[in-house]
Amino acid sequence: MITVSDLSLTFGGQNLFKHVDLKFVAGNCYGVIGANGAGKSTFLRILSGQLEPTTGEVAIDPRTRMSVLEQDHYKYDEQTVLDTILQGNARLYDIMQQKDALYAKPDFSDEDGALAADLEAEFAELGGWDAETEAARLLEGLSIGEEHLYDMMSALPTREKVKILLARALFGHPDIILLDEPTNHLDIDSIRWLEDFLMDYSGTVIVVSHDRHFLNNVCTHIVDVDYTQIKIYVGNYDFWYDSSQLMQKLLREQNKKREDKIKELQSFIERFSANKSKSRQATSRRKLLESCR
Ligand SMILES: Nc1ncnc2c1ncn2[C@@H]1O[C@H](COP(=O)(O)OP(=O)(O)OP(=O)(O)O)[C@@H](O)[C@H]1O
Ligand SMILES: [Mg+2]
Repeated sequence: MITVSDLSLTFGGQNLFKHVDLKFVAGNCYGVIGANGAGKSTFLRILSGQLEPTTGEVAIDPRTRMSVLEQDHYKYDEQTVLDTILQGNARLYDIMQQKDALYAKPDFSDEDGALAADLEAEFAELGGWDAETEAARLLEGLSIGEEHLYDMMSALPTREKVKILLARALFGHPDIILLDEPTNHLDIDSIRWLEDFLMDYSGTVIVVSHDRHFLNNVCTHIVDVDYTQIKIYVGNYDFWYDSSQLMQKLLREQNKKREDKIKELQSFIERFSANKSKSRQATSRRKLLESCR
């Protein structure tokens, strides 16, 4: 559903990503992890189209709708909570505006009637009749009473603005949701509610988080951003952690075996290269030693 091909990104001569190829499959929940500054937020900005990669491309089925958790807490200060959430589904919000403008016209022509009928059909199809109820339900899950739907965003404290932006990202059943550290600033009840929401959600979720418990509860896959590479692993965070530890142990053991072999060959070569009868063997072991390096 999302295909990333040969993606590279360079900032000021430094490679943040180099030749990354990935596939995100519909219906999975991907937890994006990596050290501070590894490029998690930047990767999400590329997926959402906010940032152009240096090479490569991100292909997304054009019929799918993507929602992104916005980071600017003050962006919607001049509008109501309800409008801010409803705009999460841009097409639905646009239809609502067009309908309102049409019905407010003093001279309602036959053409206007036909357009209104089309808009009403699409409005119903997009769940327009339930939109306000859904917005209220999202608020309730985030412990904000529905009486606040008509508050101005500017009237809310930051911790509640963050919840409205989250409700906006979750509103209207998007096909893909991108969330960058959604649990920051959230109280524990809201985090648990978000976990339940994402577990029941049938679309694709790509979420950056440092919260191990949260990742374990919601993720089907882990996306590890590490030194210019991005790799996807099946399983939740603990599964990824245990298997990456095991992998490192195996690699260490393999390296130890390789080093032991090299030492053994070196000592053989030293002992026998002067000895004529063994020199052919010493030569072949020298070749083997070259191939081990
Ligand atoms: N527009 C830019 N120009 C130059 N460098 C940038 C730009 N945006 C991000 N960077 C650099 O790219 C790197 C990755 O930043 P990013 O914010 O994506 O990391 P992150 O993994 O989200 O980190 P954190 O866990 O702290 O949120 C950082 O070194 C950052 O300084
Ligand atoms: Mg970040």
